[in-house]
Amino acid sequence: MIPDKIPVGGDIYYGAAEITKGAHVPNFQKYKELYLHSIQNPEEFWGKIAKEFYWKTPQTGSFLDYNFDHTKGKVYVKLMEGATTNICYNLLDRNVYDKKLGDKIAFYWEGNDPGDSMEITYKGLLQQVCKFANVLRAQGVKKGDRIAIYMPMIIELVVAMLACVRIGAIHSIVFAGFSSESLCERILDSRCTFLVTADGFYRGDKLINLKQVVDEALRKCRERNFHVRKCIVVKHNGGTEEAGEAETSITPESPPAKRPCQGKDNEETKNTHHKIQVPWNADVDVWWHELLKEASDECEPEWCKTEDPLFILYTSGSTGKPKGVQHTIGGYLLYTATTFKYVFNYQPDDIYWCTADIGWITGHSYVTYGPLANGATSVMFEGIPTYPDSSRFWEVIDKYKVTTFYTAPTAIRLLMKFGDGPVKRFSRQSLKILGTVGEPINPEAWHWYYTVIGNGRCPIMDTFWQTETGGHMITPLPAAIPQKPGSATFPFFGVVPAILNESGEELEGEAEGYLVFKKPWPSIMRTVYGNHERFETIYFKRFPGYFVTGDGCRRDRDGYYWITGRIDDMVNVSGHLLSTAEVESALIEHAAVAEAAVVSHPHPVKGESLYCFVTLKDGHEFTNTVVTELKNQVREKIGPIATPDYIQNAPGLPKTRSGKIMRRILRKVARNEEDLGDVSTLADESVIDELFSNRCKTT
Ligand code: WT7
Repeated sequence: MIPDKIPVGGDIYYGAAEITKGAHVPNFQKYKELYLHSIQNPEEFWGKIAKEFYWKTPQTGSFLDYNFDHTKGKVYVKLMEGATTNICYNLLDRNVYDKKLGDKIAFYWEGNDPGDSMEITYKGLLQQVCKFANVLRAQGVKKGDRIAIYMPMIIELVVAMLACVRIGAIHSIVFAGFSSESLCERILDSRCTFLVTADGFYRGDKLINLKQVVDEALRKCRERNFHVRKCIVVKHNGGTEEAGEAETSITPESPPAKRPCQGKDNEETKNTHHKIQVPWNADVDVWWHELLKEASDECEPEWCKTEDPLFILYTSGSTGKPKGVQHTIGGYLLYTATTFKYVFNYQPDDIYWCTADIGWITGHSYVTYGPLANGATSVMFEGIPTYPDSSRFWEVIDKYKVTTFYTAPTAIRLLMKFGDGPVKRFSRQSLKILGTVGEPINPEAWHWYYTVIGNGRCPIMDTFWQTETGGHMITPLPAAIPQKPGSATFPFFGVVPAILNESGEELEGEAEGYLVFKKPWPSIMRTVYGNHERFETIYFKRFPGYFVTGDGCRRDRDGYYWITGRIDDMVNVSGHLLSTAEVESALIEHAAVAEAAVVSHPHPVKGESLYCFVTLKDGHEFTNTVVTELKNQVREKIGPIATPDYIQNAPGLPKTRSGKIMRRILRKVARNEEDLGDVSTLADESVIDELFSNRCKTT
């Protein structure tokens, strides 16, 4: 229940008073009123919002139809049945033609290197999207086809995703830090017929030969008898093609190809940066700019049903196999647009910057869909927070006069280590609203963000949500919901949270337990691609009638919600969920490993890190070489974000009599906590001493 009032005083923060001027939701009473309306009459609440968008044909069935109780039949959610629309049309054509925003900047693109930048208007974006949509159609892409996208943070990534959406194809974006194995696995799972990528890019001062990773992934796909039809490559690094599957090699500077979405040349970096030689397979590879040359910039959208799939985005599953989270068109449009508007109190002259990579859900919902649906101007950033130095974020904020800044706690903790100096070099005067996402934010980082970055003027939106939810679920609203550092505060409109105990009973008032949602909201995922049963098992079986988040949660006496972290075998490394099972299976593939168990370990910057216990096969010795090989193995199988911090030799693992590994004990060993609690179910207690004496030295 939402309280009537928020207590005054104590550790509660509001930001500057001016934030309330012209706010969409000016105070807590208004929030409560709107919230209750959204819950009591979702049809009226969302129906009014839906009117702001374009529907080719209106809804014919009921507004919302659903079943959350698997014991009563198939779990499903259907919104606005019968209506047809196209998201790309709503994001671009509607803004250009109806709202007359054609000349408004959609994105300021800021490259990895300072000085490398460009901008694109709504009209410009629409033209590029139409051209690429025509290219895809000409290549034979049809409605419902899956297209894999594996790209750095460049405008062509947005163009590619919206071009898919325009013709009813389903994009499956794979974060460009994932390994060839992970890319291959994702291409295979959803049988993607096309792949869109880039030659390479710089991440800080590191050159990434993306196309080489792509070639390895496509080779792995072919080994498993799957052939993508075409691999479309953006020339971003300016590399030259090389026949065959070449090794990475560096070529001297050659004039880069100009392209419409390309930034200005930067004299300073031009001479120090290398161009890659791009491994090229003429049977499948084709340059983006070659295909676009002849394409028309007019393209009739494919009118789709609201419940048609929009995209697939893979997220870690606790069994180790990534799940293809599938979102649908109508609900995702309504929800990302609405959360963006209210949570960031969006105003037409705002300059908004979300630092997330589009390869994650935050980038889908709050770099692309939410901001464009509102006709907003955003900064899109290719680089990293510490390149060329640790004041890059603040420099970019001043450069574009950013009003709304949305980033991750891990980035804040990282930058906090450099002290206030790099921040104070820039004014950050334009900032109005700050946001965080991805993991709980510790009060120390919260306070630094609030006082140093925001000068005590900017409220912080600690947004709790998931890949599965599509948009913000529990979050403050700038003028309406005062913040307590570390709390995501209250549910967004249409969201009905509950806290359950072990036996599935709803807890009232002050309580702690499992966080679940009792009713669907528009952008809830609809299925796991190709495996609806898995969807039901993961999210609905444990507590029939509820959507289970997998997070623990506490409600305090003022009604504020505090996310306490995952309660399954997931580890949140720098805001990215990894399943321990996935890392374990990567370790076990090493010839020397008999068994592996992975747990989370607290980390000052990353939030959590991976601590691995491995049992070697007889005849193998635990050496530094093995440790390095194992770390590399995980990097190669999953990607650099999954690189373990610690690998411990564990000749014996703590197991129950039935052979189940007791991770609870391993977590204690990793943290060097000797109080192990109840160990009566342990089959062999003698392993414990050895585990403690083999502990890795941790930070
Ligand atoms: C998990 C979802 C949501 C986009 C990025 C991550 C954790 C997310 C918060 C927050 C505490 C948070 C949860 C959640 N999480 N935001 N504000 N406070 N925890 O998406 O990879 O699907 O991860 O991230 O544990 O379940 P994701």
